Amino acid sequence: MQFFLDTANVSEIKQAVGWGMLDGVTTNPSLVAKEGRNFKEAVLEICSIVDGPVSAECVREDYEGMLAEARDLASWAPNIVVKIPMTAEGMRVVKACAAEEIKTNVTLVFSVNQALLAAKAGATFVSVFIGRVDDTGGDGMLVIEQCQEMLDTYGFDAELIAASIRHPLHVAQCLELGVDVCTIPFSVAKMMFKHPLTDIGIARFLDDYAKIPK
Ligand code: G3P
Repeated sequence: MQFFLDTANVSEIKQAVGWGMLDGVTTNPSLVAKEGRNFKEAVLEICSIVDGPVSAECVREDYEGMLAEARDLASWAPNIVVKIPMTAEGMRVVKACAAEEIKTNVTLVFSVNQALLAAKAGATFVSVFIGRVDDTGGDGMLVIEQCQEMLDTYGFDAELIAASIRHPLHVAQCLELGVDVCTIPFSVAKMMFKHPLTDIGIARFLDDYAKIPK
């Protein structure tokens, strides 16, 4: 499984690189806005730190505008992946991008049918938002399972990204399902290190080491 960090915070990204766990980064307008930085400057800095795909999102909604934006974003750095929302216009852009070898990440996907449309259009990645499905009383993990099975069964090139991950159990369940990519918030990445028995074990070993005659 590949691990992406779902953040636009450079300090978090640098820490994750140091942990050896980082395969890529996904940003969205909300995450970049939180950093209070110029959009292009933030994305370019992230691209220079990460040895892997970095998703940056289009904000235009019309075909011509979105395609121009996608071409522009793709020219910023070789590892940029253009994030495009799951709309009919968006899928036209994904198709055009695929023809131009521009990598895309179709975002705001909440159903297997939407994932199918994204894969058919030629998306590089398809992002399914687990937590937001759960928020509406649905079963986000079931949608992930359906999407991964659909992509594998029909042999699409698109890779599934499990996004809107809220806790380490989501990650463990994705591992069990063989999901291609998990994009996780930094808070969840930190939680994944933790186990009470690890803390107890370290304290006990240090305690016993102190008893060894020096
Ligand atoms: O990057 C998109 C997605 O991961 C957002 O997550 O927690 O805002 O639903 P969340």
